Amino acid sequence: MNCSMKKEQVVNCQFSVWYPLFKKHTIKSLILPLPQNVIDYLLDDGTLVVSGGDHNTQQTNSSDSDAEEDIQWSDDETTTTVTAPEFPEFTSTVLEAINVLGGRAFPKLNWSAPRDANWIALNSSLQCQTLSDIFLLFKSSDFITHDLTQPFLRCSDHDTPDPVISYELVLRKWSELIPGGEFRCFVKENKLIGISPRDYTQYYHHISKQEEQLSQSIQEFFSQHIQYNFLDEDFVLDVYRDSWGKVWLIDINPFGEVTDSLLFTWEELTSGNSISGGQQDGDVAQQQEGPAFRYTTSEVTVQPSPCLSYRIPRDFVDLSTGEDAYKLIDFLKLKKSQQEEDEERGEQP
Ligand SMILES: Nc1ncnc2c1ncn2[C@@H]1O[C@H](COP(=O)(O)OP(=O)(O)OP(=O)(O)O)[C@@H](O)[C@H]1O
Ligand SMILES: [Mg+2]
Repeated sequence: MNCSMKKEQVVNCQFSVWYPLFKKHTIKSLILPLPQNVIDYLLDDGTLVVSGGDHNTQQTNSSDSDAEEDIQWSDDETTTTVTAPEFPEFTSTVLEAINVLGGRAFPKLNWSAPRDANWIALNSSLQCQTLSDIFLLFKSSDFITHDLTQPFLRCSDHDTPDPVISYELVLRKWSELIPGGEFRCFVKENKLIGISPRDYTQYYHHISKQEEQLSQSIQEFFSQHIQYNFLDEDFVLDVYRDSWGKVWLIDINPFGEVTDSLLFTWEELTSGNSISGGQQDGDVAQQQEGPAFRYTTSEVTVQPSPCLSYRIPRDFVDLSTGEDAYKLIDFLKLKKSQQEEDEERGEQP
C-alpha cells in the first residue's frame, strides 16, 4: 500500500481553506458556520421533517404565525408528538445568502456535495432555493454523513488525534456546468501528472477532437494559478472549461483513495512511475513531460453512471423491512409542503 494520505491533507482540502486562496478562479460562494443543533439534526435519522417556514419570498413579517407545525400520530401504546425542528436564525442567514447568490445555490459541506441524493429532490437536481431543499438533500446523502462522521476514514496516520473540524455550509452560486467540460487533475509533488474527464462514463466527441487544446489549457491554468499556491504538494483538482475556453477551478480534493481516481488507479498515481498517456493501449511511447490525458474513446466503453447505485433510498429500504414507517410519513409531508411552496411561488422555471 503506497497510498498514505495524511489527516492534514484532508484538513487542507476543506472548502474554507482553499477558497480564499483561489477565489478569483472559482464560482462565487458563501461559507456559513453550521450551528451544533443543525449538525445534530442532520445526523439524527429519526426524522426528515423540517418546518415549512422558510419560504424564500419577500415576506418580511417577523411573526412566527406560520412557523410551528406539529405532526402527530398515534403509536400502538403511546402517542408520540414530533415537532418539526426550528432554526429561525440559521434559516434567515441561509435565505439571505441564497439571495446574495442570485436565488439559486449549490450546497455542500466542508468537502462533499450531496451528489448521491439528487434523485430525491423534486427537481432532481442539487439546485436549492430554501433551507428545506438543502436539508432534504443533506439528510438523504451518504456523502454528507461521511463528512460529518468519518472525514479521516482512509488516512494513514491513525495514531495522531483527529483534527478538530468546524463544520460549515457552503453555498455556491448555481451554475449550469456542461458535464463534458469537467476534468479531474491529479497533482503529485506539485506536478500535474494525470487528467481525466469527470464524466468518464460517456463518450464525448469534442474531447477526442480537442484533446491537445484541452490538455494545453488545463496545464496553463494549473501552472499560472494553482501550482505552488496550495498548502500541499499532492492534491486533486477539479476544473471546468467553459464554452469560451476559459478554465475555472471547481474543487480541490485529497490525493488519496477517498477521491475517485476515475480513469486512473490510485496504484499507478502513487507508484512513483510516470504514467503513460494515451489510452492504456500498451503503446509505451512516453509523452514528453506533460500529464497523461485519458478519456473514453468510443460509445462501446460507456458505463452506467456511478451514482446509480445510491438510488435506492435508505429510507425506503428501512420501510421495506418494516423498520420505520414514520419516515415515509415525514418524507411525504415534506414533499407536500415543498410542493405547496412552489405553487405559492408561482411556478417559476
Ligand atoms: N455551483 C455549482 N452549480 C451547479 N452545479 C455545480 C456547482 N458546483 C459543482 N456543480 C456540479 O456538481 C458536481 C459535484 O460538485 P463538487 O465537485 O463540488 O462535489 P464533491 O462532493 O466535492 O464531488 P467529489 O466527491 O467528486 O469530489 C460537479 O461535478 C458539478 O457538475
Ligand atoms: Mg470534491
